[in-house]
Amino acid sequence: MRSLIFLLIRILLHMRIAVLCADKYSRYDFPPGFVFGSATAAYQVEGAASEDGRTPSIWDTFAHAGYANGATGDVAVDQYHKYKEDVKLMAEMGLDAYRFSISWSRLIPNGRGPLNPKGVQYYNNLISELISHGIQPHVTLNNADLPQALEDEYGGWINRKIVKDFTAYANVCFREFGDRVSYWTTVNEPNVFAIGGYDQGVIPPRHCSSPFGINCTRGDSSTEPYTVVHNILLAHASAARLYKRKYQEKQNGFIGISIYTLGAIPNTNSTEDAMAAQRINDFYIGWIANPLVFGDYPDTMKEIVGSRIPTFTNHESELVRGSFDFLGVIHYTTCYVEDDPGSLVLKQRDFNIDVAAKIKNMEDIFLDSEYPILPWGLQVVLEYIKQVYGNPPLYILENGQRTQRNSTLEDTSGVEYLQAYIGSVLDAVRNGSDTRGYFSWSFLDVLEILDGYRSGFGFYYVDLDDPDLKRQPKLSAYWYSHFLKGGSVSSDKVIDLKNNFSALSPGHFRQ
Ligand SMILES: *[C@@H]1O[C@H](CO)[C@@H](O)[C@H](O)[C@H]1NC(C)=O
Ligand SMILES: *[C@@H]1O[C@H](CO)[C@@H](O)[C@H](O)[C@H]1NC(C)=O
Ligand SMILES: *[C@@H]1O[C@H](CO)[C@@H](O)[C@H](O)[C@H]1NC(C)=O
Ligand SMILES: *[C@@H]1O[C@H](CO)[C@@H](O)[C@H](O)[C@H]1NC(C)=O
Ligand SMILES: *[C@@H]1O[C@H](CO)[C@@H](O)[C@H](O)[C@H]1NC(C)=O
Repeated sequence: MRSLIFLLIRILLHMRIAVLCADKYSRYDFPPGFVFGSATAAYQVEGAASEDGRTPSIWDTFAHAGYANGATGDVAVDQYHKYKEDVKLMAEMGLDAYRFSISWSRLIPNGRGPLNPKGVQYYNNLISELISHGIQPHVTLNNADLPQALEDEYGGWINRKIVKDFTAYANVCFREFGDRVSYWTTVNEPNVFAIGGYDQGVIPPRHCSSPFGINCTRGDSSTEPYTVVHNILLAHASAARLYKRKYQEKQNGFIGISIYTLGAIPNTNSTEDAMAAQRINDFYIGWIANPLVFGDYPDTMKEIVGSRIPTFTNHESELVRGSFDFLGVIHYTTCYVEDDPGSLVLKQRDFNIDVAAKIKNMEDIFLDSEYPILPWGLQVVLEYIKQVYGNPPLYILENGQRTQRNSTLEDTSGVEYLQAYIGSVLDAVRNGSDTRGYFSWSFLDVLEILDGYRSGFGFYYVDLDDPDLKRQPKLSAYWYSHFLKGGSVSSDKVIDLKNNFSALSPGHFRQ
Protein backbone atom coordinates (compact mmCIF):
# COMPACT_ATOMS: atom_id res chain seq x y z
CA MET A 1 0.00 0.00 0.00
CA ARG A 2 2.84 2.33 0.93
CA SER A 3 4.46 1.84 -2.47
CA LEU A 4 1.13 2.57 -4.14
CA ILE A 5 1.00 5.87 -2.28
CA PHE A 6 4.45 6.79 -3.54
CA LEU A 7 3.49 5.81 -7.04
CA LEU A 8 0.47 8.10 -6.79
CA ILE A 9 2.67 10.90 -5.49
CA ARG A 10 4.96 10.47 -8.43
CA ILE A 11 2.01 10.69 -10.80
CA LEU A 12 0.87 13.89 -9.11
CA LEU A 13 4.32 15.46 -9.15
CA HIS A 14 4.68 14.56 -12.78
CA MET A 15 1.39 16.24 -13.50
CA ARG A 16 2.63 19.52 -12.09
CA ILE A 17 4.36 19.97 -15.38
CA ALA A 18 1.41 21.58 -17.05
CA VAL A 19 0.54 20.04 -20.34
CA LEU A 20 -0.35 22.17 -23.32
CA CYS A 21 -3.95 21.79 -24.33
CA ALA A 22 -5.04 21.23 -27.90
CA ASP A 23 -5.72 24.67 -29.24
CA LYS A 24 -7.04 24.02 -32.71
CA TYR A 25 -9.32 21.09 -33.29
CA SER A 26 -12.70 19.95 -34.56
CA ARG A 27 -15.05 17.23 -33.43
CA TYR A 28 -13.57 14.95 -36.09
CA ASP A 29 -10.37 14.83 -34.02
CA PHE A 30 -12.35 12.81 -31.44
CA PRO A 31 -12.95 9.06 -31.89
CA PRO A 32 -16.04 8.11 -33.92
CA GLY A 33 -19.06 7.78 -31.65
CA PHE A 34 -17.79 10.31 -29.12
CA VAL A 35 -20.92 12.07 -27.88
CA PHE A 36 -21.29 15.82 -27.39
CA GLY A 37 -24.25 17.00 -25.38
CA SER A 38 -25.44 19.38 -22.75
CA ALA A 39 -27.07 18.91 -19.36
CA THR A 40 -29.72 20.14 -16.93
CA ALA A 41 -31.56 18.61 -13.95
CA ALA A 42 -35.24 18.31 -13.07
CA TYR A 43 -35.77 20.83 -10.29
CA GLN A 44 -33.51 23.32 -12.03
CA VAL A 45 -35.55 23.54 -15.25
CA GLU A 46 -38.95 21.89 -15.07
CA GLY A 47 -41.10 24.24 -13.02
CA ALA A 48 -44.71 22.98 -12.67
CA ALA A 49 -43.59 22.06 -9.18
CA SER A 50 -47.05 21.37 -7.81
CA GLU A 51 -48.77 20.63 -11.08
CA ASP A 52 -50.18 17.34 -12.36
CA GLY A 53 -49.63 15.45 -9.13
CA ARG A 54 -45.99 16.28 -8.33
CA THR A 55 -45.17 16.60 -4.61
CA PRO A 56 -42.23 18.47 -3.01
CA SER A 57 -38.70 17.15 -2.90
CA ILE A 58 -36.06 18.08 -0.33
CA TRP A 59 -34.86 20.70 -2.85
CA ASP A 60 -38.32 22.36 -2.96
CA THR A 61 -38.24 22.55 0.84
CA PHE A 62 -34.74 24.03 0.80
CA ALA A 63 -35.59 26.65 -1.82
CA HIS A 64 -38.85 27.61 -0.14
CA ALA A 65 -36.98 28.20 3.10
CA GLY A 66 -34.94 30.83 1.22
CA TYR A 67 -31.63 29.02 0.94
CA ALA A 68 -31.30 29.25 -2.86
CA ASN A 69 -30.70 32.97 -2.69
CA GLY A 70 -34.44 33.42 -2.23
CA ALA A 71 -35.29 31.72 -5.54
CA THR A 72 -37.41 28.61 -6.09
CA GLY A 73 -37.97 26.14 -8.91
CA ASP A 74 -41.76 26.59 -8.82
CA VAL A 75 -41.60 27.88 -12.40
CA ALA A 76 -37.85 27.66 -13.16
CA VAL A 77 -37.56 27.93 -16.96
CA ASP A 78 -40.78 25.95 -17.36
CA GLN A 79 -39.31 23.09 -19.36
CA TYR A 80 -42.30 21.01 -18.25
CA HIS A 81 -44.40 23.04 -20.67
CA LYS A 82 -41.68 24.12 -23.08
CA TYR A 83 -39.88 20.83 -23.70
CA LYS A 84 -40.82 20.80 -27.38
CA GLU A 85 -39.38 24.24 -27.91
CA ASP A 86 -36.23 23.26 -26.00
CA VAL A 87 -35.73 20.02 -27.93
CA LYS A 88 -36.08 21.99 -31.16
CA LEU A 89 -33.33 24.35 -30.01
CA MET A 90 -31.16 21.34 -29.11
CA ALA A 91 -31.67 19.84 -32.55
CA GLU A 92 -30.92 23.12 -34.28
CA MET A 93 -27.81 23.53 -32.20
CA GLY A 94 -26.67 20.03 -33.24
CA LEU A 95 -26.56 18.26 -29.84
CA ASP A 96 -25.97 14.50 -30.01
CA ALA A 97 -27.38 14.00 -26.52
CA TYR A 98 -29.29 15.70 -23.72
CA ARG A 99 -28.66 14.87 -20.09
CA PHE A 100 -31.60 15.50 -17.77
CA SER A 101 -32.85 14.05 -14.51
CA ILE A 102 -36.16 12.56 -13.52
CA SER A 103 -38.05 14.08 -10.62
CA TRP A 104 -38.78 11.10 -8.39
CA SER A 105 -41.67 12.91 -6.66
CA ARG A 106 -43.25 13.68 -10.04
CA LEU A 107 -43.13 10.02 -11.03
CA ILE A 108 -43.98 8.51 -7.63
CA PRO A 109 -45.44 11.27 -5.46
CA ASN A 110 -45.08 9.48 -2.12
CA GLY A 111 -41.63 8.18 -2.91
CA ARG A 112 -43.01 4.64 -3.11
CA GLY A 113 -46.27 3.14 -4.18
CA PRO A 114 -48.56 4.28 -6.97
CA LEU A 115 -47.19 5.95 -10.08
CA ASN A 116 -48.42 9.34 -11.18
CA PRO A 117 -49.68 8.77 -14.75
CA LYS A 118 -49.09 12.42 -15.68
CA GLY A 119 -45.49 12.10 -14.51
CA VAL A 120 -44.97 8.97 -16.60
CA GLN A 121 -46.50 10.76 -19.54
CA TYR A 122 -44.27 13.83 -19.20
CA TYR A 123 -41.06 11.81 -19.33
CA ASN A 124 -42.43 9.65 -22.14
CA ASN A 125 -43.16 12.82 -24.10
CA LEU A 126 -39.76 14.36 -23.44
CA ILE A 127 -37.89 11.16 -24.29
CA SER A 128 -39.86 10.56 -27.47
CA GLU A 129 -39.40 14.17 -28.54
CA LEU A 130 -35.62 13.79 -28.10
CA ILE A 131 -35.51 10.50 -29.99
CA SER A 132 -37.56 11.85 -32.87
CA HIS A 133 -35.01 14.65 -33.23
CA GLY A 134 -32.12 12.19 -33.18
CA ILE A 135 -30.97 13.22 -29.68
CA GLN A 136 -29.88 10.52 -27.21
CA PRO A 137 -31.39 10.85 -23.73
CA HIS A 138 -28.90 10.43 -20.85
CA VAL A 139 -30.93 10.13 -17.69
CA THR A 140 -29.93 10.78 -14.08
CA LEU A 141 -32.29 9.16 -11.58
CA ASN A 142 -31.61 11.37 -8.59
CA ASN A 143 -30.11 14.84 -8.43
CA ALA A 144 -30.48 16.19 -4.86
CA ASP A 145 -34.27 15.97 -5.09
CA LEU A 146 -35.33 13.06 -2.90
CA PRO A 147 -39.09 13.05 -2.28
CA GLN A 148 -39.74 15.05 0.89
CA ALA A 149 -42.13 12.26 1.93
CA LEU A 150 -39.19 9.85 2.38
CA GLU A 151 -37.09 12.45 4.18
CA ASP A 152 -39.98 12.99 6.61
CA GLU A 153 -40.80 9.34 7.02
CA TYR A 154 -37.38 7.91 7.85
CA GLY A 155 -34.69 10.51 7.24
CA GLY A 156 -34.10 9.77 3.55
CA TRP A 157 -30.54 8.88 2.62
CA ILE A 158 -29.34 8.47 6.22
CA ASN A 159 -31.54 5.40 6.58
CA ARG A 160 -30.78 2.04 4.98
CA LYS A 161 -34.46 1.79 4.00
CA ILE A 162 -33.65 4.10 1.10
CA VAL A 163 -31.94 1.23 -0.75
CA LYS A 164 -35.22 -0.60 -1.27
CA ASP A 165 -37.20 2.49 -2.25
CA PHE A 166 -34.52 3.74 -4.63
CA THR A 167 -34.32 0.34 -6.31
CA ALA A 168 -38.10 0.24 -6.75
CA TYR A 169 -38.03 3.76 -8.25
CA ALA A 170 -35.18 2.79 -10.58
CA ASN A 171 -37.16 -0.29 -11.61
CA VAL A 172 -40.07 1.93 -12.66
CA CYS A 173 -37.73 4.12 -14.73
CA PHE A 174 -36.05 1.16 -16.48
CA ARG A 175 -39.41 -0.47 -17.15
CA GLU A 176 -41.21 2.63 -18.43
CA PHE A 177 -38.38 4.39 -20.30
CA GLY A 178 -35.59 1.86 -20.83
CA ASP A 179 -36.81 0.91 -24.30
CA ARG A 180 -35.60 4.37 -25.42
CA VAL A 181 -33.05 5.37 -22.76
CA SER A 182 -29.64 3.69 -23.02
CA TYR A 183 -27.63 5.71 -20.49
CA TRP A 184 -28.53 5.78 -16.81
CA THR A 185 -26.70 7.61 -14.06
CA THR A 186 -28.11 6.52 -10.71
CA VAL A 187 -27.17 9.35 -8.35
CA ASN A 188 -25.57 12.69 -9.10
CA GLU A 189 -22.23 13.44 -7.40
CA PRO A 190 -22.88 11.69 -4.06
CA ASN A 191 -19.62 13.13 -2.67
CA VAL A 192 -20.73 16.73 -3.01
CA PHE A 193 -24.30 15.90 -2.02
CA ALA A 194 -22.98 14.39 1.22
CA ILE A 195 -20.52 17.18 1.99
CA GLY A 196 -22.93 19.98 1.12
CA GLY A 197 -26.09 18.39 2.46
CA TYR A 198 -24.84 16.60 5.61
CA ASP A 199 -21.56 18.21 6.61
CA GLN A 200 -21.84 21.92 5.86
CA GLY A 201 -25.62 21.92 5.61
CA VAL A 202 -25.59 24.36 2.70
CA ILE A 203 -27.62 22.28 0.23
CA PRO A 204 -30.69 20.04 0.68
CA PRO A 205 -31.57 18.47 3.04
CA ARG A 206 -29.53 20.84 5.28
CA HIS A 207 -28.30 18.47 7.90
CA CYS A 208 -25.26 19.56 9.89
CA SER A 209 -23.92 20.01 13.39
CA SER A 210 -21.76 22.68 14.94
CA PRO A 211 -18.97 23.62 14.46
CA PHE A 212 -19.03 22.32 10.89
CA GLY A 213 -22.25 23.87 9.65
CA ILE A 214 -24.51 26.67 10.71
CA ASN A 215 -28.10 26.65 11.94
CA CYS A 216 -29.18 23.21 10.88
CA THR A 217 -32.05 21.77 12.85
CA ARG A 218 -30.82 18.21 12.42
CA GLY A 219 -27.70 16.31 11.62
CA ASP A 220 -24.27 15.11 12.67
CA SER A 221 -21.53 16.44 10.43
CA SER A 222 -18.98 14.00 11.75
CA THR A 223 -20.86 10.85 10.74
CA GLU A 224 -23.82 11.49 8.44
CA PRO A 225 -21.83 12.34 5.28
CA TYR A 226 -20.16 8.92 5.50
CA THR A 227 -23.42 7.11 6.23
CA VAL A 228 -25.13 8.85 3.33
CA VAL A 229 -22.46 7.98 0.79
CA HIS A 230 -22.49 4.38 2.04
CA ASN A 231 -26.26 4.15 1.54
CA ILE A 232 -26.01 5.83 -1.86
CA LEU A 233 -23.38 3.32 -2.96
CA LEU A 234 -25.59 0.44 -1.79
CA ALA A 235 -28.64 1.94 -3.50
CA HIS A 236 -26.65 2.50 -6.69
CA ALA A 237 -25.30 -1.05 -6.61
CA SER A 238 -28.74 -2.50 -5.97
CA ALA A 239 -30.27 -0.56 -8.89
CA ALA A 240 -27.34 -1.48 -11.14
CA ARG A 241 -27.69 -5.17 -10.28
CA LEU A 242 -31.40 -5.02 -11.06
CA TYR A 243 -30.67 -3.31 -14.39
CA LYS A 244 -28.02 -5.83 -15.33
CA ARG A 245 -30.15 -8.83 -14.39
CA LYS A 246 -33.50 -7.77 -15.69
CA TYR A 247 -33.08 -5.15 -18.40
CA GLN A 248 -29.62 -4.80 -19.85
CA GLU A 249 -29.70 -7.71 -22.24
CA LYS A 250 -33.00 -6.58 -23.72
CA GLN A 251 -32.42 -2.84 -23.64
CA ASN A 252 -28.70 -2.75 -24.47
CA GLY A 253 -28.05 0.18 -22.18
CA PHE A 254 -25.36 1.24 -19.73
CA ILE A 255 -25.48 2.26 -16.08
CA GLY A 256 -23.13 4.37 -13.99
CA ILE A 257 -22.83 6.99 -11.28
CA SER A 258 -21.24 10.43 -11.30
CA ILE A 259 -18.42 11.85 -9.21
CA TYR A 260 -17.56 15.48 -8.54
CA THR A 261 -13.86 15.92 -9.20
CA LEU A 262 -11.39 18.67 -8.47
CA GLY A 263 -8.09 18.86 -10.23
CA ALA A 264 -5.80 18.54 -7.16
CA ILE A 265 -2.36 20.03 -7.75
CA PRO A 266 0.22 20.00 -4.95
CA ASN A 267 1.13 23.59 -4.15
CA THR A 268 4.85 22.84 -3.87
CA ASN A 269 7.16 19.97 -4.67
CA SER A 270 7.18 18.82 -1.07
CA THR A 271 6.11 15.28 -0.24
CA GLU A 272 3.70 16.71 2.36
CA ASP A 273 1.80 18.69 -0.26
CA ALA A 274 1.81 15.77 -2.67
CA MET A 275 0.31 13.59 0.06
CA ALA A 276 -2.26 16.29 0.82
CA ALA A 277 -3.26 16.34 -2.85
CA GLN A 278 -3.50 12.57 -2.73
CA ARG A 279 -5.85 12.85 0.26
CA ILE A 280 -8.04 15.27 -1.71
CA ASN A 281 -8.20 12.70 -4.51
CA ASP A 282 -9.02 9.94 -2.02
CA PHE A 283 -11.72 11.95 -0.27
CA TYR A 284 -13.37 13.20 -3.45
CA ILE A 285 -12.73 10.58 -6.13
CA GLY A 286 -11.67 7.58 -4.08
CA TRP A 287 -14.63 7.82 -1.70
CA ILE A 288 -16.86 6.76 -4.60
CA ALA A 289 -14.50 5.15 -7.10
CA ASN A 290 -12.55 2.86 -4.73
CA PRO A 291 -15.66 0.96 -3.57
CA LEU A 292 -16.87 0.71 -7.17
CA VAL A 293 -13.56 -0.51 -8.55
CA PHE A 294 -11.86 -2.23 -5.57
CA GLY A 295 -14.78 -2.92 -3.21
CA ASP A 296 -13.68 -0.70 -0.29
CA TYR A 297 -12.92 2.88 0.77
CA PRO A 298 -9.36 4.20 0.36
CA ASP A 299 -6.99 3.30 3.22
CA THR A 300 -6.29 6.97 3.90
CA MET A 301 -9.99 7.60 4.51
CA LYS A 302 -10.34 4.59 6.79
CA GLU A 303 -7.26 5.68 8.75
CA ILE A 304 -8.37 9.29 9.17
CA VAL A 305 -12.10 8.80 9.63
CA GLY A 306 -11.85 5.66 11.72
CA SER A 307 -15.08 4.18 13.00
CA ARG A 308 -17.14 7.07 11.64
CA ILE A 309 -16.97 5.60 8.14
CA PRO A 310 -19.13 2.49 7.72
CA THR A 311 -17.50 -0.85 7.00
CA PHE A 312 -18.52 -2.84 3.97
CA THR A 313 -19.55 -6.41 4.74
CA ASN A 314 -18.15 -8.94 2.29
CA HIS A 315 -21.55 -9.18 0.70
CA GLU A 316 -21.86 -5.39 0.27
CA SER A 317 -18.36 -5.14 -1.06
CA GLU A 318 -19.14 -7.76 -3.72
CA LEU A 319 -22.36 -5.97 -4.59
CA VAL A 320 -20.69 -2.58 -5.03
CA ARG A 321 -17.50 -3.69 -6.75
CA GLY A 322 -17.86 -3.57 -10.52
CA SER A 323 -21.43 -2.26 -10.35
CA PHE A 324 -21.00 0.20 -13.21
CA ASP A 325 -20.52 0.35 -16.95
CA PHE A 326 -19.17 3.90 -16.88
CA LEU A 327 -18.25 6.64 -14.44
CA GLY A 328 -19.62 10.14 -14.87
CA VAL A 329 -17.08 12.89 -14.26
CA ILE A 330 -18.26 16.26 -13.04
CA HIS A 331 -15.54 18.85 -13.25
CA TYR A 332 -15.43 22.60 -13.03
CA THR A 333 -12.12 23.63 -11.60
CA THR A 334 -8.74 22.87 -10.15
CA CYS A 335 -7.30 23.56 -6.74
CA TYR A 336 -3.79 24.01 -5.39
CA VAL A 337 -3.38 21.89 -2.32
CA GLU A 338 -1.23 22.41 0.74
CA ASP A 339 -0.76 20.11 3.68
CA ASP A 340 -2.68 21.37 6.72
CA PRO A 341 -2.55 19.09 9.73
CA GLY A 342 -4.82 21.48 11.67
CA SER A 343 -7.70 21.39 9.22
CA LEU A 344 -9.93 18.99 11.12
CA VAL A 345 -11.72 22.01 12.54
CA LEU A 346 -12.35 23.76 9.26
CA LYS A 347 -14.99 26.36 8.87
CA GLN A 348 -17.85 25.87 6.46
CA ARG A 349 -17.24 26.31 2.74
CA ASP A 350 -13.72 25.02 3.10
CA PHE A 351 -15.14 21.86 1.65
CA ASN A 352 -12.56 19.46 2.97
CA ILE A 353 -13.41 18.43 6.47
CA ASP A 354 -11.23 15.52 7.62
CA VAL A 355 -8.86 15.85 4.69
CA ALA A 356 -6.15 17.73 6.60
CA ALA A 357 -5.41 19.70 3.47
CA LYS A 358 -5.87 23.31 2.57
CA ILE A 359 -7.03 24.59 -0.77
CA LYS A 360 -5.04 27.68 -1.66
CA ASN A 361 -7.27 29.18 -4.34
CA MET A 362 -10.50 28.70 -2.41
CA GLU A 363 -11.95 32.10 -3.26
CA ASP A 364 -11.45 31.46 -6.96
CA ILE A 365 -13.29 28.22 -7.01
CA PHE A 366 -16.09 28.32 -4.48
CA LEU A 367 -17.34 31.87 -4.62
CA ASP A 368 -19.81 33.27 -7.06
CA SER A 369 -17.31 34.46 -9.63
CA GLU A 370 -16.22 33.05 -12.96
CA TYR A 371 -13.97 30.02 -12.73
CA PRO A 372 -10.30 30.45 -13.50
CA ILE A 373 -9.62 28.62 -16.77
CA LEU A 374 -7.26 25.75 -15.83
CA PRO A 375 -8.16 23.18 -18.47
CA TRP A 376 -5.16 20.89 -17.90
CA GLY A 377 -6.72 20.23 -14.45
CA LEU A 378 -9.41 18.20 -16.21
CA GLN A 379 -6.75 16.34 -18.16
CA VAL A 380 -5.00 15.54 -14.88
CA VAL A 381 -8.27 14.13 -13.46
CA LEU A 382 -8.93 11.99 -16.53
CA GLU A 383 -5.35 10.75 -16.53
CA TYR A 384 -5.53 10.02 -12.80
CA ILE A 385 -8.70 7.94 -13.20
CA LYS A 386 -7.14 6.14 -16.15
CA GLN A 387 -4.02 5.19 -14.20
CA VAL A 388 -5.48 4.47 -10.76
CA TYR A 389 -8.78 2.82 -11.70
CA GLY A 390 -7.80 0.82 -14.77
CA ASN A 391 -9.10 3.19 -17.45
CA PRO A 392 -12.86 2.76 -17.04
CA PRO A 393 -15.23 4.22 -19.66
CA LEU A 394 -15.96 7.83 -18.69
CA TYR A 395 -18.53 10.43 -19.61
CA ILE A 396 -17.92 14.02 -18.62
CA LEU A 397 -21.40 14.79 -17.38
CA GLU A 398 -20.89 18.40 -16.31
CA ASN A 399 -18.33 21.07 -17.18
CA GLY A 400 -18.94 24.74 -17.80
CA GLN A 401 -18.20 28.33 -16.96
CA ARG A 402 -20.17 30.31 -14.42
CA THR A 403 -21.11 33.76 -15.66
CA GLN A 404 -23.26 36.38 -14.10
CA ARG A 405 -26.72 35.61 -15.33
CA ASN A 406 -27.92 39.00 -16.41
CA SER A 407 -24.67 40.46 -17.67
CA THR A 408 -24.41 39.88 -21.42
CA LEU A 409 -25.21 37.47 -24.23
CA GLU A 410 -21.57 37.76 -25.32
CA ASP A 411 -20.25 35.25 -22.83
CA THR A 412 -16.69 35.30 -24.13
CA SER A 413 -15.30 33.63 -21.01
CA GLY A 414 -17.82 30.82 -21.51
CA VAL A 415 -16.47 30.27 -25.02
CA GLU A 416 -12.86 30.43 -23.88
CA TYR A 417 -13.64 27.94 -21.12
CA LEU A 418 -15.38 25.43 -23.42
CA GLN A 419 -12.72 25.74 -26.09
CA ALA A 420 -9.96 25.11 -23.55
CA TYR A 421 -11.67 22.32 -21.62
CA ILE A 422 -12.87 20.37 -24.66
CA GLY A 423 -9.29 20.69 -25.94
CA SER A 424 -8.01 19.17 -22.71
CA VAL A 425 -10.46 16.27 -23.06
CA LEU A 426 -9.04 15.70 -26.54
CA ASP A 427 -5.52 15.59 -25.11
CA ALA A 428 -6.58 13.05 -22.49
CA VAL A 429 -8.31 10.92 -25.13
CA ARG A 430 -5.22 11.08 -27.33
CA ASN A 431 -3.18 9.81 -24.38
CA GLY A 432 -5.46 6.79 -23.98
CA SER A 433 -8.26 7.89 -21.63
CA ASP A 434 -11.46 5.97 -22.42
CA THR A 435 -13.60 9.11 -22.26
CA ARG A 436 -16.62 8.65 -24.50
CA GLY A 437 -18.66 11.80 -24.19
CA TYR A 438 -18.80 15.39 -23.02
CA PHE A 439 -21.79 17.28 -21.62
CA SER A 440 -21.55 20.97 -20.97
CA TRP A 441 -23.38 22.42 -18.00
CA SER A 442 -25.90 23.78 -18.80
CA PHE A 443 -28.18 23.90 -21.79
CA LEU A 444 -30.11 26.86 -20.39
CA ASP A 445 -29.51 29.24 -17.54
CA VAL A 446 -31.19 27.31 -14.73
CA LEU A 447 -31.94 27.58 -11.02
CA GLU A 448 -28.55 26.96 -9.39
CA ILE A 449 -28.55 25.21 -6.05
CA LEU A 450 -26.94 27.99 -4.00
CA ASP A 451 -27.03 31.01 -6.30
CA GLY A 452 -30.64 30.76 -7.35
CA TYR A 453 -30.92 32.79 -10.53
CA ARG A 454 -27.80 34.88 -9.97
CA SER A 455 -25.42 32.88 -12.12
CA GLY A 456 -25.90 31.51 -15.58
CA PHE A 457 -23.91 28.59 -17.00
CA GLY A 458 -26.22 28.11 -19.96
CA PHE A 459 -26.08 28.41 -23.71
CA TYR A 460 -29.44 30.13 -23.54
CA TYR A 461 -30.35 33.08 -21.38
CA VAL A 462 -33.92 33.16 -20.16
CA ASP A 463 -35.35 36.50 -19.10
CA LEU A 464 -37.39 35.57 -16.07
CA ASP A 465 -39.43 38.75 -16.33
CA ASP A 466 -40.64 37.79 -19.78
CA PRO A 467 -43.99 36.01 -19.41
CA ASP A 468 -43.03 33.76 -22.34
CA LEU A 469 -39.62 32.94 -20.81
CA LYS A 470 -38.10 33.27 -24.25
CA ARG A 471 -34.74 31.52 -24.75
CA GLN A 472 -32.00 33.77 -26.13
CA PRO A 473 -28.77 32.20 -27.44
CA LYS A 474 -25.46 33.43 -26.11
CA LEU A 475 -22.17 33.57 -27.96
CA SER A 476 -21.31 30.18 -26.43
CA ALA A 477 -24.39 28.63 -28.10
CA TYR A 478 -23.15 29.94 -31.41
CA TRP A 479 -19.65 28.58 -30.70
CA TYR A 480 -20.87 25.11 -29.63
CA SER A 481 -23.20 24.84 -32.60
CA HIS A 482 -20.34 25.72 -34.96
CA PHE A 483 -18.22 23.03 -33.27
CA LEU A 484 -21.00 20.42 -33.22
CA LYS A 485 -21.59 20.89 -36.92
CA GLY A 486 -17.97 20.08 -37.65
CA GLY A 487 -16.42 23.55 -37.73
CA SER A 488 -12.86 23.83 -36.50
CA VAL A 489 -12.26 25.93 -33.44
CA SER A 490 -9.18 27.75 -32.20
CA SER A 491 -8.52 30.61 -29.84
CA ASP A 492 -7.74 33.06 -32.61
CA LYS A 493 -11.09 32.30 -34.21
CA VAL A 494 -13.06 33.41 -31.15
CA ILE A 495 -12.74 37.07 -32.16
CA ASP A 496 -13.97 36.26 -35.65
CA LEU A 497 -16.90 34.34 -34.21
CA LYS A 498 -17.69 37.19 -31.87
CA ASN A 499 -17.81 39.70 -34.71
CA ASN A 500 -20.11 37.43 -36.63
CA PHE A 501 -22.31 36.92 -33.57
CA SER A 502 -22.67 40.64 -32.94
CA ALA A 503 -23.59 41.18 -36.57
CA LEU A 504 -26.51 38.76 -36.31
CA SER A 505 -29.69 39.34 -34.43
CA PRO A 506 -29.89 36.87 -31.56
CA GLY A 507 -31.24 33.56 -32.71
CA HIS A 508 -30.37 34.17 -36.31
CA PHE A 509 -27.73 31.46 -36.31
CA ARG A 510 -30.42 28.83 -36.26
CA GLN A 511 -30.84 27.54 -39.78
C1 LIG B 1 -28.16 31.55 11.94
O1 LIG B 1 -29.20 31.90 12.80
C2 LIG B 1 -29.00 33.16 13.45
C3 LIG B 1 -30.11 33.35 14.47
O2 LIG B 1 -31.36 33.04 13.89
C4 LIG B 1 -28.97 34.25 12.39
O3 LIG B 1 -28.71 35.50 12.99
C5 LIG B 1 -27.83 33.94 11.41
O4 LIG B 1 -27.85 34.89 10.34
C6 LIG B 1 -28.00 32.56 10.82
N1 LIG B 1 -26.84 32.24 9.99
C7 LIG B 1 -26.95 31.69 8.77
C8 LIG B 1 -25.66 31.47 8.04
O5 LIG B 1 -28.00 31.37 8.28
C1 LIG C 1 9.61 21.47 -8.64
O1 LIG C 1 10.29 20.51 -9.39
C2 LIG C 1 10.44 20.84 -10.76
C3 LIG C 1 11.04 19.64 -11.53
O2 LIG C 1 12.00 18.97 -10.74
C4 LIG C 1 11.29 22.10 -10.88
O3 LIG C 1 11.41 22.46 -12.23
C5 LIG C 1 10.58 23.22 -10.11
O4 LIG C 1 11.37 24.38 -10.12
C6 LIG C 1 10.30 22.81 -8.69
N1 LIG C 1 9.42 23.81 -8.10
C7 LIG C 1 9.56 24.27 -6.86
C8 LIG C 1 8.56 25.29 -6.40
O5 LIG C 1 10.45 23.87 -6.11
C1 LIG D 1 -32.25 40.97 -15.24
O1 LIG D 1 -32.40 42.19 -15.94
C2 LIG D 1 -33.74 42.57 -16.11
C3 LIG D 1 -33.77 43.76 -17.03
O2 LIG D 1 -32.66 44.57 -16.85
C4 LIG D 1 -34.33 42.89 -14.73
O3 LIG D 1 -35.68 43.30 -14.88
C5 LIG D 1 -34.27 41.62 -13.92
O4 LIG D 1 -34.74 41.85 -12.63
C6 LIG D 1 -32.86 41.07 -13.85
N1 LIG D 1 -32.93 39.76 -13.27
C7 LIG D 1 -32.06 39.34 -12.38
C8 LIG D 1 -32.24 37.93 -11.92
O5 LIG D 1 -31.15 40.00 -11.95
C1 LIG E 1 0.16 9.50 -20.97
O1 LIG E 1 -0.06 8.14 -20.62
C2 LIG E 1 1.11 7.50 -20.15
C3 LIG E 1 0.78 6.02 -19.98
O2 LIG E 1 -0.34 5.86 -19.16
C4 LIG E 1 1.59 8.16 -18.87
O3 LIG E 1 2.75 7.56 -18.39
C5 LIG E 1 1.83 9.64 -19.15
O4 LIG E 1 2.17 10.30 -17.93
C6 LIG E 1 0.61 10.29 -19.75
N1 LIG E 1 0.91 11.66 -20.15
C7 LIG E 1 0.20 12.71 -19.71
C8 LIG E 1 0.62 14.03 -20.25
O5 LIG E 1 -0.74 12.62 -18.96
C1 LIG F 1 -17.66 34.76 -39.99
O1 LIG F 1 -18.34 35.24 -41.13
C2 LIG F 1 -17.51 35.27 -42.30
C3 LIG F 1 -18.32 35.96 -43.39
O2 LIG F 1 -19.58 35.36 -43.53
C4 LIG F 1 -17.14 33.84 -42.66
O3 LIG F 1 -16.28 33.82 -43.81
C5 LIG F 1 -16.37 33.23 -41.50
O4 LIG F 1 -16.09 31.86 -41.77
C6 LIG F 1 -17.21 33.32 -40.23
N1 LIG F 1 -16.39 32.85 -39.12
C7 LIG F 1 -16.81 31.96 -38.28
C8 LIG F 1 -15.82 31.57 -37.21
O5 LIG F 1 -17.92 31.48 -38.29
